[in-house]
Amino acid sequence: MQIKSRIRTIAHYPHEGIMFRDITTLLKDPVGLRTTIQEISNRYKTLKIDKVAGIESRGFIIGAPVAYELGLGFVPIRKKGKLPAETRGRDYQLEYGSDRIEIHLDAIQRGDRVLLIDDLIATGGTAEAAAALIQEMGGEVVECCFVIDLPDVGGRSRLEIQGFKVFALCEFAGD
Ligand code: PRP
Ligand code: MG
Repeated sequence: MQIKSRIRTIAHYPHEGIMFRDITTLLKDPVGLRTTIQEISNRYKTLKIDKVAGIESRGFIIGAPVAYELGLGFVPIRKKGKLPAETRGRDYQLEYGSDRIEIHLDAIQRGDRVLLIDDLIATGGTAEAAAALIQEMGGEVVECCFVIDLPDVGGRSRLEIQGFKVFALCEFAGD
């Protein structure tokens, strides 16, 4: 509960009926931030991993310190038009409309074992696009790691059906 109890819920944000899980209360708390980064890092420190990839923007806040803690490099997967060198991109569906994420062509080498990190998985559309990009570049997604899973929305199953491993520090289901 060290982590879940520090996550704030805002009802009806950004839309009526949505329970927004807000990690800013976790991040601003020194114990919360440290526990989050250490629990994730501990899970992966004995696995062979070459790179940590984080999804813009909240995935950067978690992913970069995990990479630092594991002694690995960090690869940003960014929203469209933000990366300056040559990129590969992938579109994904949002609740309303679609968006696109991109990765630098030289960010992943063939055979790289990559840990994919974001703060939260809901529909799984964002993580699915990111994992697919890593695979298209010849990388192997060791696991998709999140602070929060919303199992009722189905993202975890969506990724697992495709053969991806999924881990989350906590979940909010029906509450
Ligand atoms: C949120 C969250 C995840 C994604 C999860 O990011 O941080 O990245 O949505 O949703 P999904 O599983 O349904 O794809 P958002 O796009 O709101 O942007 P942000 O991280 O920049 O705030
Ligand atoms: Mg995000």
